[in-house]
This record gives sequence, C-alpha cells and structure tokens, in this order.
Amino acid sequence: MRQAGRYLPEYRAIRETADILEVCRAPDLAAEVTMQPLRRMPVDAAILFSDIMVPVAAMGVDVRIEAGRGPVVDDPIRSATDVRRLHSLQPEAEVPFVLEAIALLRKELEVPLIGFSGAPFTLASYLVEGGPSRTHERTKALMHSDPEAWDRLMGILGHSMARYLRAQVEAGAQALQVFDSWAGALDPDDYFLFVLPTMRELFGSLADLDVPLIHFGVGTGELLPLMRDAGASVIGVDWRVPLHVAWERVGFDVAVQGNLDPTACLAPWASVEKKALTVLRRAAGRPGHVFNLGHGVLPGTPVETLQRLVDLVHERTEGTREWAG
Ligand code: CP3
Repeated sequence: MRQAGRYLPEYRAIRETADILEVCRAPDLAAEVTMQPLRRMPVDAAILFSDIMVPVAAMGVDVRIEAGRGPVVDDPIRSATDVRRLHSLQPEAEVPFVLEAIALLRKELEVPLIGFSGAPFTLASYLVEGGPSRTHERTKALMHSDPEAWDRLMGILGHSMARYLRAQVEAGAQALQVFDSWAGALDPDDYFLFVLPTMRELFGSLADLDVPLIHFGVGTGELLPLMRDAGASVIGVDWRVPLHVAWERVGFDVAVQGNLDPTACLAPWASVEKKALTVLRRAAGRPGHVFNLGHGVLPGTPVETLQRLVDLVHERTEGTREWAG
C-alpha cells in the first residue's frame, strides 16, 4: 500500500499542481502516479493510485484529504438519520474515472494490477469521527448505543465496496486488497459482533471473481484468527507480530502479506537488510508469503533503500516466486 507517494520527487511534483482527490479523479494522472514507483524499482505488482475515501465521496458525503492529517468529513455521520444521507454506490456512473485509470494501466503494465477499497469499519470511522482518530470513540459509541444504525451503516458501506471492487476487476484489476487499517482499535468481541459479519459478506460476495483477495489491517495481532474467518485468501500483517507467529494464528493454508516495519526503511542499509532477512527467515520458504511493508511507505524514506530492498528480496527468493492468481 502507498507504494506511490511523497517519498518520490516525481509524485511531489504532480501534487504541486493538483489536490490528491483531483489526481484520483483524473485517469491519466492516477495512472501516471501508479506507474512512478514501477519505473524506479522492479516490484512484482502495481497498486492502483487512488484513496479509500474516493468512493465514499461519491456516496453523498463531502470529504477532503488534508496533507499531513488524512481524510476529513466536516458534517460527520453520528445518527440513524445521518446514515440515511448515504446512498449505495453505483461505480460505473459515480466513479468512472477509477475504472478508466484501471483500463489505461492494464495497457501499460507488465506486472499484475491490484485494485482496492477501504473496509467498512475503517471507512465508518472516518465518517463518524469526522477525521483521523486515535481512540475511535464516537465510532464505538455509535456501534454500542445504536446497533441498528451501525448495522445500516456497515451494510451500505459493505454493499457499496462489494460493487466497487467487482467493478475494478471487471475493468481489469487482477487482485483486490481491502484495507481495514483501524480494525486493530477493536477488541475481539466487538470485532466479532460488529465487523466480522460485514467482512464475511463482503469477501463471500467476491469469491466468484477468482482473484486473490487481500485483507489488511494494522495492530490486528489478536484479531488474526477472526480475520481469517472473514474469508480472504491473503491476510496482511503489520510488524507487531513476528511473521511466523501471525501465520500460525491464521493457519498455513492461507497466504500472508508483510511484515517489515516501514520505519525500518529510514535506518542505515545494514539494519534494513537484517530486518528484511529476518522476515524472510520467518517465512521459511513456505508457499504463500507476499513480502511487503507492514504499512505504507513513509514520506522520508530514501528511494535507494527501497530499491535495494526489492533487489534483496528478489535475490533471496529467486526460483521460488510465483503469482498467486
Ligand atoms: O499505494 C499506492 O500507491 C496507492 C495509493 C493509496 C493512497 N491511499 C494514496 C494516498 C492507497 C492504497 C491508500 C489507502 C488509504 N488511504 C488507507 C488504507 C491504507 C493505509 O495506509 O492504512 C487509508 C487509511 C487512507 C486514508 C488516508 N489518505 C490517509 C491516512 C492519508 C495520509 C495523510 C497524510 O498526509 O499523512 C491519506 C492521503 C494519501 N492517500 C496519501 C497517499 C499517497 C499521502 C500523500 C498525499 O497527500 O499526497
């Protein structure tokens, strides 16, 4: 995730001329930014340049993305009445530019293209809190005080993301990733009751597409077995749980993605190398490990470190790499 971004001067140059949502809404710009990291290093897949809030902004809420802060919703969703302001997403009519960017990219790319969406809980958190939150307290308050409104909110987000992800595959995406970045804020009981049913429905509805489905979260150590039950084929793990421990928690019959700490890439190369080799050692050559950072690339990351990292992982996994699709 966030393979493109501020660590690349060519990305910053585009962002000087356009707001991030403008980039997302212009197929040629979105395609160009998607390609930028691939011109710098031979990664094995491209991730579409967009943002998790792009489809939500088309569903009846005003969203902007503030640099250094994240998504902001001035008129948040806090009640059953507010939930009614959201309409179900019609991807072809309301976010055609995303599908056009995918079509453009498929003509240019030599590696698989990953489409994505936010997961309902993470999207709900931005909608209910009105912006990034450390505690997610208003979101949890809604979930516990008005479970009916919560279910309706999760339902509309779940259906909309299911349609959005399907439309991305129909446009040419060859794998899908669902980002539940803030699910780790929940205890396993609340995750089980208030989030898992929607995730099961979401992944269940995509199963017929026959593309790899990646389920990503941050701080989800205690939720991993429940995430496995949600039904994706690949579970993303951050750096807080050693890879082999996380893999055992989800079961060796599903694939795992991760899990180098992104801040490790700010350190001198010798320490990046050591940590990357630790991840590979823990994967132990089992089939079904997607090497990745445990979260997005940080803006201050030297491009050269990422280039060396890609080369190192390629060197050490030579002859064993395969595309899960
Ligand atoms: O990886 C890629 O190249 C694809 C692009 C991508 C972006 N956002 C572009 C972006 C992806 C996959 C996302 C997903 C996303 N957006 C998530 C889920 C993954 C994760 O990181 O947990 C979340 C939670 C968001 C919401 C969001 N958008 C945040 C928290 C921020 C960062 C705010 C900041 O300035 O630190 C954004 C802005 C954003 N979206 C950037 C990028 C490259 C930052 C650069 C910019 O503002 O131009």
